[in-house]
Amino acid sequence: MAASASVAPVYDDDPVRGFALAAVLWGVVGMLVGVIIAAQLAWPDLTFGIPWLSYGRLRPLHTNAVIFAFGGCALMATSFHVVQRTCQVRLFAPWLARFTFVGWQLVIVAAAVTLPLGYTQGKEYAELEWPIDVLITLVWVAYAIVFFGTIGKRRVRHIYVANWFFGAFILAVALLHLVNGAAMPASFWKSYSAYAGVQDAMVQWWYGHNAVGFFLTAGFLGMMYYYIPKQTERPVYSYRLSIVHFWALIFTYMWAGPHHLHYTALPDWAQSVGMLFSLVLLAPSWGGMINGVMTLQGAWHKLRDDPILKFLIVALSFYGMSTFEGPMMSIKTVNALSHYTDWTVGHVHAGALGWVGFITMGSLYYLIPRMFGQTRMFSVKAIELHFWIATLGVVLYIAAMWIAGVMQGLMWRALNPDGTLVYSFVESVKATFPFYVVRLCGGLLYLSGMGVMAWNVAMTVRAAPRTGAAALPAAAVAAA
Ligand code: HEM
Ligand code: HEM
Repeated sequence: MAASASVAPVYDDDPVRGFALAAVLWGVVGMLVGVIIAAQLAWPDLTFGIPWLSYGRLRPLHTNAVIFAFGGCALMATSFHVVQRTCQVRLFAPWLARFTFVGWQLVIVAAAVTLPLGYTQGKEYAELEWPIDVLITLVWVAYAIVFFGTIGKRRVRHIYVANWFFGAFILAVALLHLVNGAAMPASFWKSYSAYAGVQDAMVQWWYGHNAVGFFLTAGFLGMMYYYIPKQTERPVYSYRLSIVHFWALIFTYMWAGPHHLHYTALPDWAQSVGMLFSLVLLAPSWGGMINGVMTLQGAWHKLRDDPILKFLIVALSFYGMSTFEGPMMSIKTVNALSHYTDWTVGHVHAGALGWVGFITMGSLYYLIPRMFGQTRMFSVKAIELHFWIATLGVVLYIAAMWIAGVMQGLMWRALNPDGTLVYSFVESVKATFPFYVVRLCGGLLYLSGMGVMAWNVAMTVRAAPRTGAAALPAAAVAAA
């Protein structure tokens, strides 16, 4: 990360500021919808039968809002921040960076309107209809031009590893979106997939799993490789390991998708390939986690009173946990128990709340004050409070789902001596009720933490010096 230039460049941080604030806003909105659907699962009549507030429409609204609005804005903010600092240049094509910001917000608003109205392609995490898909393509091309253009004009010879992860995320998501989104429009708001039957399922879960691998993992690993060394003021534990981590991870993820289709019409050999690559995936995932955690070597004491570091390191623990759990769930015999149950939902949120949420929060707490001419957030105590209520929230959420999931799996397969089922399906639903209430409490805590963050961010922005907000970050980072 050493600068080759003698004069510190003044960075173009408007898009970074915009995306960072948008991430916080959409985080609150997306998690609020998560809490509503969690309550609906416990009390299905909650929204009085109003169609656009029905569970089936709000669920994709939740997943799109948290993954693409909250996660996407955080990824764009941090990648634009990191690429400028590590390349020691301003963003390439600044107007395209602004187009990326406005275009991405348009995509989010279009999703927030069309999903409750029931317009959907019916593909999980790829629900948006074709006109919005076209807009996503345009915005993504603009994003890629800005990011890779900035790397192209860098003043430092070396391309820092965080940029490799961000770059892989951008390229892979482009590929996934184009292939899985291929569809034949029948009208302005209706299209049919270009694929059919089991091929459609295979393309969809190749997409779905790599959305996890590249949208929910690779980009966030880019954050890890920049913000953990920054916050600990230590270099990455092993730079060599980070390169092995990168190539092993991106190669392996691409083949693991069939684990979503165990015991389906997909040929058995393809399911086994998916299982095998999922098991192999444990190694690069843990290599990366260990590299991040060991970066703290010699600075463990900082964890005691630095809540930002707590977010970043606990994120890695959840990353390690969910990337251990995932390979186990991909084993066919384990999947026979876990599939269709709330165990999967628990696994998803161990990754989503614990890894994606925490690494984002830690990174934004580092980035936001610096983007508004300050060295720290308005209230460090509020970050500490956020950390503890969010941690309690995740633990309640995932513990409830684990217990509920294993219970459901066991109830569904329990047989009487004559071969009939011991439990009817509705009995398993009734037995799950208390766990849905506990999950709701966990979700409420997690959402409250996000509310504390939004207040802290608003106060930090209000306290920003009226002029030259960008001057400090440039100077501060030039010294870093
Ligand atoms: C307050 C926080 C949150 C709450 C209360 C919440 C709640 C829920 C609920 C109730 C579901 C539906 C589960 C089902 O169909 O049985 C769900 C699904 C999902 N949520 Fe969340 N969520 C939260 C935060 C997040 C975040 C931050 C992310 C991602 C970064 C996320 C990603 C997902 C995904 C990917 C699914 C689909 C899971 C699947 O298909 O198995 N959630 N969430
Ligand atoms: C080594 C890494 C991982 C492996 C091998 C893995 C494996 C799995 C498996 C086997 C399933 C269940 C499929 C099913 O029965 O339907 C699953 C579901 C899922 N995982 Fe993972 N997982 C990994 C890491 C993660 C991480 C880190 C996240 C989140 C950040 C995540 C998010 C999800 C989501 C969203 C689903 C639900 C998909 C759906 O049905 O809608 N996974 N994963």
